[in-house]
Amino acid sequence: MTANRLPSPGLLRRRFLVGGAASVALLSAGGSVAGRRPPKPLAAAPGPGTPATQRAHLVAAPRPLKLLGPGAPATPGWTYGDDPLTVIRARRGDSLEVRLENRLPEFTSIHWHGIRLPIAMDGVPYITQPPVQPGESFDYRFALPDTGTFFFHPHCNTVAQVGRGLAGVLIVDGDAPIPYAADVLCLLRDWRIDEATGDFLDFQTAAGAAKAGTFGTLRTTGLAPAPTVAVPAGRDVRVRILNLDVTRVSQVGVVDAEAAVIAIDGNAVSPFPLLAWRMGPAMRLDVVVRAPQPGKAAQVVDYFAKEPVVLMTLLGEGDAPEATADFDPPPLYAPALPEPDLRNAETLPFVFGATAVAGTVAAPNGETIDLGASLCLNTDSFWAINKQSWPERGHEFPPAPLAELTLGRSYVFELQNVTPHMHPIHLHGHTFKVLDSNKVDRPVHWADTVLLTPKERARIAFVADNPGRWMFHCHIIEHQDTGMMGYVTVA
Ligand code: C2O
Ligand code: CU
Repeated sequence: MTANRLPSPGLLRRRFLVGGAASVALLSAGGSVAGRRPPKPLAAAPGPGTPATQRAHLVAAPRPLKLLGPGAPATPGWTYGDDPLTVIRARRGDSLEVRLENRLPEFTSIHWHGIRLPIAMDGVPYITQPPVQPGESFDYRFALPDTGTFFFHPHCNTVAQVGRGLAGVLIVDGDAPIPYAADVLCLLRDWRIDEATGDFLDFQTAAGAAKAGTFGTLRTTGLAPAPTVAVPAGRDVRVRILNLDVTRVSQVGVVDAEAAVIAIDGNAVSPFPLLAWRMGPAMRLDVVVRAPQPGKAAQVVDYFAKEPVVLMTLLGEGDAPEATADFDPPPLYAPALPEPDLRNAETLPFVFGATAVAGTVAAPNGETIDLGASLCLNTDSFWAINKQSWPERGHEFPPAPLAELTLGRSYVFELQNVTPHMHPIHLHGHTFKVLDSNKVDRPVHWADTVLLTPKERARIAFVADNPGRWMFHCHIIEHQDTGMMGYVTVA
């Protein structure tokens, strides 16, 4: 299967859209697609059954990873278990009890990305809990209020800890009114490794951090480049795509099969055709794909490259059903999230920019003055939110909050990207509604991370219903580490 065979997103768009306002910025054509077929109402989920407690013991430790293939040297990975791909599964309403045991040479923590949980369980060292030092354990305990596809990762030295492999998937079931013929995980991530020795390269570079980030050298889906997964031929399968990379933005699509988006960041949307959806680090997309006929293949691809890159091949297997219905996947159950009161919401602007002060200047006497240090900034501060850079790579010395929110009030955050780079912006502890944008035509949807494209302004809204100090940052981890992080308080 050569990459050249893959149609471009433009061709796909022409195939799917009739008369939509197609432009390059129109990534997945929410509005136009909705115009093609009226959005389907999402039914409320039935109440959760008897809640259970799901337990897991995660031992964060160095373990070799075979990323370069059988004969090649192993990579000194860090993982949560002997199976390097940790997947925790629960049902909505269940409680999760996870013991994190730290056998790493440095402190760590677990942040449960996208989960609306109490602040003490949010896993941000110094801000929400003490760092979990080597040899120590920490017990995370919380209920799971929402269904969907989530993940978890450390929230300290993140570029290296996630870079070495620390990340896991959390699936909260109970959102599907009908079963799918298969449930496929499509975990996208890169590794920065030396292909001769298997060792890691520098996770962070100043040149990368100041621009789009430092990209990996090996792209994998799961733990292998472009794996082939057998799926029941001709049936509708669910594919959960997670961008677990720390840097790369992918623009995912499906080739040679019909595909519809059913959830964004785990939150159900009225299904719409998947053309090419941009996913920044931390973003998730649940897709239903009509599996190919027996022996035939379809591909999950990334269009955000010169030639489309195959991420995963879905191979039809077994007997296809005799009579095939039109591809028309029903929606998942509606998210049960507090609806922001837009009429009475307070609007707060957040400007995502570059630091004006980073770098050095030559003083008249010939000395070099480090402007960053003179303002108590990390010398590698390249980024800021509302002109405020997070001062250190860790979380030990938090600056003032970016905003103080009143518990129970609705807020509209006006996010403005004044840089020429993309920034996937994530808020902890809340799920927000992405309302609109001056550049990208997305359907209104719930999310925990929104990808700001260059010069984009987007509005998000939510009810500040969870008390605490909630991190608000770019999920390109080098940007987060070099200033583009802050927090809001809810009290
Ligand atoms: Cu997934 Cu603060 O991060
Ligand atoms: Cu960023």
